[in-house]
Amino acid sequence: MNTNFKNDINEGLSKPLKTLPSKYFYDKIGDALFVKIMKLPEYYLTKAEFDIFKNQTKKIISSLKIKPNAYFELIELGAGDGTKTKELLKELLAENYNFEYIPIDISKNALSKLETTLKAELPQLKVSTKQGDYFNVLDSLKASSHSKVVLFLGSNIGNMEDEKAKQFISNLSNSLKNNDKVLLGVDLIKTEDIVLPAYNDKAGITKAFNLNLLTRINNELDANFNIDDFSHQPEYTESEGIARSYMVSNKDQNVRINALNKTFHFKKDEKIHTETSRKYNDIILQTILEGSQLNIVSKLLDSKSFFADYILIKTENHV
Ligand code: AVJ
Repeated sequence: MNTNFKNDINEGLSKPLKTLPSKYFYDKIGDALFVKIMKLPEYYLTKAEFDIFKNQTKKIISSLKIKPNAYFELIELGAGDGTKTKELLKELLAENYNFEYIPIDISKNALSKLETTLKAELPQLKVSTKQGDYFNVLDSLKASSHSKVVLFLGSNIGNMEDEKAKQFISNLSNSLKNNDKVLLGVDLIKTEDIVLPAYNDKAGITKAFNLNLLTRINNELDANFNIDDFSHQPEYTESEGIARSYMVSNKDQNVRINALNKTFHFKKDEKIHTETSRKYNDIILQTILEGSQLNIVSKLLDSKSFFADYILIKTENHV
């Protein structure tokens, strides 16, 4: 049990530059902290993308160029609580589009919650949830011959290093057919005075979110991290467009991880990289899309131009 988690933690903490994968933030406590983050005044991302979904719903639909009567699958990768998507779902239903909503998530808990609220709020909606890893599920969907619109929102792609993002986009492209669409939500490069506070809020919720990973290791791998002996340190370089979060060891210390039968040493001021949050612009997105069959067809911005939802189309190159 937990072998991936165990191996990934071991691998990350054994590197000369220690690192821990951000995907492990999302246990029960982490999920709840992320819900709080989305409501923080400093965390503009969710509000900006909601602004697009709320105020430009019709524009999203027209940009997707869905044929009014043809059935399509609306697939969402990492659906979460569906707040933004509901705006789109309501409008699609109101305009009588013929579709099924297929939210994919690794969390069973998140999916069943979403299904319950959708049944109550949009009883006429056809929903079929799929639990699992994006790609296993995408692969299984490949079998269906229906047109697809894939939603990948919230700048979740920003957690991937550029090479990973390229691979992801290329896999996604390969799971789609000619003319299928992707709606990709990304945070845009902007100045440090706006980006940095989003990862360093006054209330300390992001700090708790970051350091909760140590609590998780304590609980699941029988370790003895003292949370108070680590600090939260986000950094952002506008020229690069990447925010990175670190934990910093406040002192020279040893930590025992019993499940690994290992002791790790942390030097005073040593950094552990825990998260990458890449910000985008047209050129960076172009380089990520290069080599895939996905191309940008339109771009929707929130009222402050903080965030973008790009619409991509799969175009097969015939020889
Ligand atoms: C959900 C990956 C978009 O990187 O902004 C929020 C996660 N991390 N605060 C992000 C997060 C710290 C978030 N994403």
